[in-house]
Amino acid sequence: MAVQFIDLASDQQALVKMLGRLGKLEAGVTPAIQMLKGGVSSNIMRIETGKEIFCLKQALPTLKVAKEWHAPIERVFAEIAWLEAAAQIVPEHVPDILGVDKQSGSFLMEFFPPEQNMCWKDLLLLGRVDTEVAAQLGHVLSLIHNETAGNSHIVDTFDTALNDQNFMAIRLDAYLLETGRQHPERRYFFQSLVDSFIQHKHALVHGDISPKNILTGSKGLIILDAECACYGDPAFDVAFLLNHLLLKAVVVPQAAASLSRAFSFFCTHYFAFVGWEPRQALECRVAQLLPALLLARVDGKSPVEYLNDAQRERVRQFAEQLLDAQFNTVSLIQSFWYREINQ
Ligand SMILES: Nc1ncnc2c1ncn2[C@@H]1O[C@H](COP(=O)(O)OP(=O)(O)O)[C@@H](O)[C@H]1O
Ligand SMILES: [Mg+2]
Repeated sequence: MAVQFIDLASDQQALVKMLGRLGKLEAGVTPAIQMLKGGVSSNIMRIETGKEIFCLKQALPTLKVAKEWHAPIERVFAEIAWLEAAAQIVPEHVPDILGVDKQSGSFLMEFFPPEQNMCWKDLLLLGRVDTEVAAQLGHVLSLIHNETAGNSHIVDTFDTALNDQNFMAIRLDAYLLETGRQHPERRYFFQSLVDSFIQHKHALVHGDISPKNILTGSKGLIILDAECACYGDPAFDVAFLLNHLLLKAVVVPQAAASLSRAFSFFCTHYFAFVGWEPRQALECRVAQLLPALLLARVDGKSPVEYLNDAQRERVRQFAEQLLDAQFNTVSLIQSFWYREINQ
């Protein structure tokens, strides 16, 4: 069914109808709605109906970022499919899906109260680096990649033109090709990274493994926000996460040593379990992507919002040095970065 976009955040009647279609609203009950902060590409809200509390997510056609950026709203179905696939592998680390409304392109999921589930990004930016979270994330991600690698059901579900177009729009073009356009002398290299992603379709990729999309609670971590999901190169997920652990050291230099430890913990718990290809081959692609993503987070379509001008310039400078160095292991990048960036 084609999705006709109706903004559920501004059309209460449409929202009530949607909840009714899913059998989540009794007649006469007015839902209490609270918009949640933090999302750039979706309507995301906490809904209380008297009997139940849940979280509603609806993909927006235009993302709330500085540069013009559109993406098909049908990407919400990739997110739902990723959550369902991950629930088969690591059920305790993803929200349960409580209802899917194809008509409005939205879904309901389990709500995690913020009092018990902190966003990992917020903790990192406070300099509170829990290396156990990094270790667990490495392990969980390696399970997801391992279990989905070469799995024909996963390939049939995710290796679609729509998912590829979506990943191209909101990841490969927005981060890599856009950065190549901003740095024409590196254009071919950025294009080669895109080609490499397409040539290494090995496993189910989440596409936004960022601390912003990880909740940490007493029962361990929860992974959210899989709207970029596709069948692709798992190196992307790994580099994407490691990039965030590098960038945080620019803002909280006093936590650089523990961020570096978190980087190591993630890698140890991730790379030990790579079962679908030689570890070195995967790591080499991660090492190529990582400096490119660093530069992309200052000069791509979605620059990180927490750097000031001087910090942005430092990131640009060190990312360019790393691109020139062409290291082929992540530990070489790690040592360079945590040593240089805060001097
Ligand atoms: N199931 C949930 N329970 C509690 N909070 C959530 C839930 N899903 C999302 N959030 C909060 O909303 C924010 C935005 O959600 P997310 O799925 O990441 O949307 P976007 O695609 O717009 O980034 C998250 O960073 C998190 O703080
Ligand atoms: Mg998000």
